[in-house]
Amino acid sequence: MMSEKELEEFQLISTHPIKKSDLGFHGNLFGGKLLAWLDAAGAAFAAQVCDTPRMVTIKIDECIFKKASKEGQLLKIYGKVYEFGTTSVTLLLECRSHNVYTGRQSSVLTTNIKFVRVDESGDPIPVSERVKNKFKQNNYER
Ligand SMILES: CC(C)(COP(=O)(O)OP(=O)(O)OC[C@H]1O[C@@H](n2cnc3c(N)ncnc32)[C@H](O)[C@@H]1OP(=O)(O)O)[C@@H](O)C(=O)NCCC(=O)NCCS
Repeated sequence: MMSEKELEEFQLISTHPIKKSDLGFHGNLFGGKLLAWLDAAGAAFAAQVCDTPRMVTIKIDECIFKKASKEGQLLKIYGKVYEFGTTSVTLLLECRSHNVYTGRQSSVLTTNIKFVRVDESGDPIPVSERVKNKFKQNNYER
């Protein structure tokens, strides 16, 4: 569970209403679907953070599906910068189910995803110092 301070630093990246076509064999949200949503949300956020559309996924950390998600529920994906490397940014992503009646949310899955900045040929290139400094100044970095 995250502290109140940590939660405040998160940004909403995407919202997903769960449809019948998103379900797996047991009537729960299909795990691969959630992973695809997380990867896409993370890639979009990484591109926004690093000021470039060319970010590729290199690593997804352990994923524990803590809570089943059902048809009709709303899932929200939140993220924040966890750390910068030379050519990469690692994001902390959290997926939460959102109750539309009460506004209460509960955590479904939390993981880190690492994205690498690449050039037109797909080779890694450094994330700009300007981007890293911007995050340091805003105290977004750990
Ligand atoms: C991303 C890619 C260009 C990196 O190439 P590479 O030869 O591994 O490059 P490098 O060794 O210079 O490493 C680049 C970054 O990846 C990280 N990295 C490489 N292998 C890693 C691994 N096994 N685990 C974690 N990070 C790794 C390095 O730490 C480095 O980050 P840093 O500069 O912040 O330290 C290459 O692995 C690739 O094209 N992968 C496929 C990406 C893809 O198609 N993703 C799915 C669709 S988006």
